Amino acid sequence: MHRIAIVVGSLREGSLNRKVAKAICALSSDMLDCFIVEIGQLPHYNQDHEKEPPAAVQEFRKLIQSADGVLFCTPEYNRGIPGVLKNAIDVGSRPYGNSVWDKKPGAIVTASPGGIGGFGSNHQLRQCCVFLNMPIMQQPEAYLGQVSEDSFDENGELRDGPLKTLVVSVAKAFADWVDLIVRGRKLIAEDAAHTPRSS
Ligand code: FNR
Repeated sequence: MHRIAIVVGSLREGSLNRKVAKAICALSSDMLDCFIVEIGQLPHYNQDHEKEPPAAVQEFRKLIQSADGVLFCTPEYNRGIPGVLKNAIDVGSRPYGNSVWDKKPGAIVTASPGGIGGFGSNHQLRQCCVFLNMPIMQQPEAYLGQVSEDSFDENGELRDGPLKTLVVSVAKAFADWVDLIVRGRKLIAEDAAHTPRSS
């Protein structure tokens, strides 16, 4: 079973995206070992602190490093990603050459009460992930629109319906995606170890 770090782009206590993240954890517990990595405590990224990073930065980086994959669940703010999420991405990406995101398989889920499901933030985040060398799952895309409190029952579970159907398919596809990449890399490394070098 693969360990998945979930990064939620909203600090709001009643965040719909956090609820979606928790629902994904519950729905995929037979396939994935998910844990939410908090980002609200991270200081603003400052290159001057790279040599002696604050404890919160070190802890955050360690948690992401320990994961086999990363799932982002984020709202869209003004057609882009929330600043707090961009900060977490920047914090994890440096010092240069020592990014914790490098090669981590990922997926992006954006949830909004609006109709277009955070499409803008979803793709802005994809743009960062391309540069960060994260293989991001392409399908199914997860622009979760018209999400509201009513999408969840009193236990925080997604109510039956098209939203739950999509979230289940995203969780299943992501488990397969992480497995493909993690096992594929392992096989390639084993293969390389057994292949005699040509002189
Ligand atoms: C929003 N919201 C929003 N929604 C959207 O679909 N597209 C957008 O561009 C924006 N912009 C935006 C900016 C700011 C500053 C706020 C606070 C909100 C609405 C947003 O989707 C809604 O508040 C969600 O409930 C936020 O996600 P969480 O906190 O519930 O996870």
